[in-house]
Order: sequence, then C-alpha cells, then structure tokens
Amino acid sequence: KTEPLVLGIETSCDETGVGIVRGHTLLADEIASSVDEHARFGGVVPEVASRAHFEAMVPTVQRALDRAGVTLADVDAIAVTAGPGLAGALLVGVAAAKAYALAAGKPIYGVNHLAAHVAVDTLEHGALPEPAIALLVSGGHSSLLRVDDLAAGVTPLGATIDDAAGEAFDKVARLLGLPFPGGPPIDRAAREGQVVIPFPRGLTGPRDLAEHRFDFSFSGLKTAVARWVEARARSGEPVPVNDVAASFQEAVCDVLTAKAIDACREHGIETLVIGGGVAANSRIRALAGQRAEKYGIAVRVPRPNLCTDNGAMVAALGSHLVASGAEPGRLGLPSDSAMP
Ligand code: KG4
Ligand code: ZN
Repeated sequence: KTEPLVLGIETSCDETGVGIVRGHTLLADEIASSVDEHARFGGVVPEVASRAHFEAMVPTVQRALDRAGVTLADVDAIAVTAGPGLAGALLVGVAAAKAYALAAGKPIYGVNHLAAHVAVDTLEHGALPEPAIALLVSGGHSSLLRVDDLAAGVTPLGATIDDAAGEAFDKVARLLGLPFPGGPPIDRAAREGQVVIPFPRGLTGPRDLAEHRFDFSFSGLKTAVARWVEARARSGEPVPVNDVAASFQEAVCDVLTAKAIDACREHGIETLVIGGGVAANSRIRALAGQRAEKYGIAVRVPRPNLCTDNGAMVAALGSHLVASGAEPGRLGLPSDSAMP
C-alpha cells in the first residue's frame, strides 16, 4: 500500500512555499521568496509580502507538482499554514489551498506553523519520538514547546518576551552594516572572530529563572551591542565586526541551548528538536550537541534549508495528520495558534 501524497502550502511570512511529500519522503520543496523586496526596509513589510504570495502562488504550486512528477489529481490531501503569522499573508495561502481542494475534491488540513517547524524533522530523521522538547527560533518567533502528540498540537513552555532570536540577528547585522536577513552574514563573520565581549544573557538571573524559567529576552542584548558599537565608534577606533558578531552570537546561542536542555532535564525528556531559521546557525548546532551529549539527550536538527520557512514542513505535518487519522477540514481563524 502506498503512503498518502500530501501537498503543503506555507505563506505565513515572506516565503511562498509549496512542498509535496509521500509519507516521510520529500518529493518537492519549491520556494518563491520576497525577501529581496523587504531588504531595503530592514524587515518584512506585510502588504508587500501578501502581494508577492498572490503573484507567486500558482506558478510555485505548478513547479512543485512538476518537480514531484505528479498532478493535482494524484494528491490525497492538501495542508496549509493557518497561523500564527501575518494575517494578510496567511489569507493568500488559505484561499489558494481552499480553491485547489475544492477544484480537485481533496480534503484540507489547516495547520499550526510552529508544529510544522517540528514536523519537518520527520522528513530527515523519521518518526519523532514523543514526548519531545522543541526549540523554535526564527525571525518571527522564539519558543520552547513540549510535544506529547504532534497530531494533537504543541504545548508552549515559554517564548520571547520581546524580540525574536532571528529578529535580534537581523537588528544587530544592521548595526554592523551587514545585509538583511542578518543571520547568515553574522554566522559567517563570527567564524572569523573571537568571543571576547561579555554581552548580557537575558532572563538568566536567579529571579528571572524563577519567573521566566523558559522565556527569552533579546532586546537588552541588542541594546548592549548598539551601545558597545557606538562607544567604539566615538573613540575613533574601528569596530571589530567579526568579534562583535562572535560575541553576540555566543550570547544568543548560550541562552537558547541552556534553556532548551534545562527543559529536557526538568521534564525528563530525551529528545530535543530545533527548528526555525536560526536553527541553521552553525554555533547553535554545535553548542546544543555538546550540551545535550552530557545528559544523554538526542538533538534533532533538520538540514538548514528545511529549518527556514518552506512548504515541505506543512506537507510533513499534513502527512502526519493523515497517517494519525485526524479529521480534515479544520480551518479556523488565521490567528488560532491552538490548532495542530
Ligand atoms: O524560519 P524563518 O525562515 O522565517 C521566520 O522568521 O519565520 O527564519 C528567518 C530568520 C531570520 O531572522 C534570519 O536572520 C535567521 O532566521 N537566520 C539565521 C541564520 N539563517 C537564518 N540566524 C542565525 N544564523 C543563521 N545561520
Ligand atoms: Zn517560521
């Protein structure tokens, strides 16, 4: 018996992603990004993103079908990101998914973007051992989640109380004159630099650890970097971009991995999944692996192009929902973050 063929559509931010999977096998993962159109603004402009999704949707779906060597008639189910994300951007994806589902007579699954970031790992490492802890770090979100049953949803343990981790990378890159999105250029600069500046680790003091055990804060770190760079510029000395990048990156990755490992230990959980665009960072991968090893925790991080927003992650969760016998047709409001 062949496993179900699922097409997934992702439009929560600036990537129009269309993925096609059969079971845990990835057949196509096509992306149209409007990131260049946002670059001059230093961040994603919602209206620009919505229009770009509208233009890219049909050709991207067609490219994915061609790449997978299938037609819409072959597809068994359609999954689409229903939230959280930019409302206008989500609506384009949901409207398209509904149109395809109606035209082809296919069941439709509205899925949670964060759960999809977790599910994408199954395409690389197979079925997810449950329960698991997930650390999702991107430009729009930074959350620690407990996953007891991926088909039923994810349970938040904590999240950022201000900037997202990726947002911090983007803002600090801007301060250093590096291009948007800032993660990749900071990652590269950090490899040439040294961790020599003691930047603050947000929400790690004794009181914070009591009140904000699994929450994150990156705006104080961003301000500390800005102050440090300004002071250096005033002194007339050149700013050591590589050292600032390495020291900033270390501060972010230190807190993220420490809290993720703490969550695993406190919950007696032996699997940690890391996802979202920041999971592509070379330092977070290394540090998480190093720290997890000490406690016998297995770390699962999908390959970098599966970590950033894409359609494959939505198709992966859709495929899991079909396999678990979940009811299709659950398409709540785009902001309904409780749905699987
Ligand atoms: O998951 P994603 O593609 O989109 C959402 O924001 O949902 O994540 C994009 C974010 C950006 O902030 C980008 O700077 C960051 O992920 N990022 C990285 C790296 N690659 C992408 N951050 C740190 N290191 C990287 N190598
Ligand atoms: Zn995302």
